[in-house]
Amino acid sequence: MHTAETHTTMTRELIKTTAGIPATDGAGVEMTRIIGTPDLNMLDPFLLLDSFESDQPQDYIGGFPDHPHRGFETVTYLLEGRMRHKDSAGNEGVIEANGVQWMTAGKGIVHSEMPEQEDGLLMGFQLWVNLPKADKMTEPAYQGFAGTEIPLEQHNNGTLVRVITGRTDEGTVGPVVNNFVRPTYLDIALPAGVVFEQSLDYSDNVFIFVIEGDVKVGEKLQSLGKRRLGILSGGERVAITAGSSDSRFLLVAGQPLNEPVARGGPFVMNTQQEVLQAFDDFRNNRF
Ligand code: FE2
Repeated sequence: MHTAETHTTMTRELIKTTAGIPATDGAGVEMTRIIGTPDLNMLDPFLLLDSFESDQPQDYIGGFPDHPHRGFETVTYLLEGRMRHKDSAGNEGVIEANGVQWMTAGKGIVHSEMPEQEDGLLMGFQLWVNLPKADKMTEPAYQGFAGTEIPLEQHNNGTLVRVITGRTDEGTVGPVVNNFVRPTYLDIALPAGVVFEQSLDYSDNVFIFVIEGDVKVGEKLQSLGKRRLGILSGGERVAITAGSSDSRFLLVAGQPLNEPVARGGPFVMNTQQEVLQAFDDFRNNRF
């Protein structure tokens, strides 16, 4: 039945916005924490979103020296600059502009993430994606792709879509494979006034984060400004319209796990007991 009301529920609308809070992590890296704050503790399965953007070396030069993770995945997406990654299993590499590293920490990894630059702009995001209870102790794994390996979909209206994971309506598929929460992670550049549409599973949790310009969400055209995150309602279709200037935003979606979450710094498990076990394992070199 195509009443106006059912039509409205098909398109996802803006239900909450947040700008995040200034935070310091690692060895004095200045960033904005957008998910993982008192205002937005999590958006299942997304546990944390940090945005870093600075051309002042003192804000980032300390990097993130050796630290552990267990029970979830870390996704680093760089827009500008270079970061060197090294871990306890001997893996090492440099993430460059437009590149992504999707790391499944699983049962445990100790790694460092250090800027591979002494000055200039460093800009990007780190997203934490939870693992299902059954997969928290999976073997650690990496999926890393340079910017040139990430498909860039171009529309006739000037829209550019970088597809990190998931599938666009035009059929472009991102290189990252994740069967845990079947995420979608798109980086979309939209000319002023142009609309971008994407279908998603109704039950996916979805957020957008505005990198440049400003956008209007859904059919109600509610505004979301630069450096703000917007959570979208349930629905089968996302429609985002660029405002009066060219805009760029991330669109991230995933299936909620609906499982208990116990956090302890770099460990995210289902119970407090499992978090204490992770600290114990780390202290006793069982990672
Ligand atoms: Fe880390």
